[in-house]
Amino acid sequence: MKAKVSLVLNGESVSAEIEPRETLADFIREGRGLTATHLGCEHGVCGACTVEVNGLTTRSCLCLAVKADGSDVKTLEGLGSDPVMIVLKRWFHDEHALQCGFCTPGMLMTARDILSRHRAPDAGTIRKELSGQLCRCTGYANIVKAIEAAGKELAQ
Ligand code: FES
Ligand code: FES
Repeated sequence: MKAKVSLVLNGESVSAEIEPRETLADFIREGRGLTATHLGCEHGVCGACTVEVNGLTTRSCLCLAVKADGSDVKTLEGLGSDPVMIVLKRWFHDEHALQCGFCTPGMLMTARDILSRHRAPDAGTIRKELSGQLCRCTGYANIVKAIEAAGKELAQ
């Protein structure tokens, strides 16, 4: 039995008939070809699959696509002209806040969420807020620096 899902993805209306067990992550990646949403652990631990659903950061590996029916979903691809994301990406580049880049889309989505709730957060706040995002490569220091610098710039 198939289920119909209709949602807004990065500003565009999308409808599809899918298996009811399909996750939002697979709906986005496999169904729509939006591969910035990465799949690491697939059980809610690493944060690589983080997207925004109705303004809230969400682990798309833990959310069934049918549950997102009627929602407004944003992935990194849909935030190319977002002013906060533009600043974050520049600081990630300038502070060398990535190595392999696998965690980076989820880090950026979460960083944007952090900056939406904290004005110019300090390193301690950023580390606490990032505790659900795993990175195997960087040791986190430069990611924290990049988010801190972006927060300072945006607060000016
Ligand atoms: S792939 Fe979703 S939290 Fe790891
Ligand atoms: S840069 Fe490789 S996992 Fe974070």
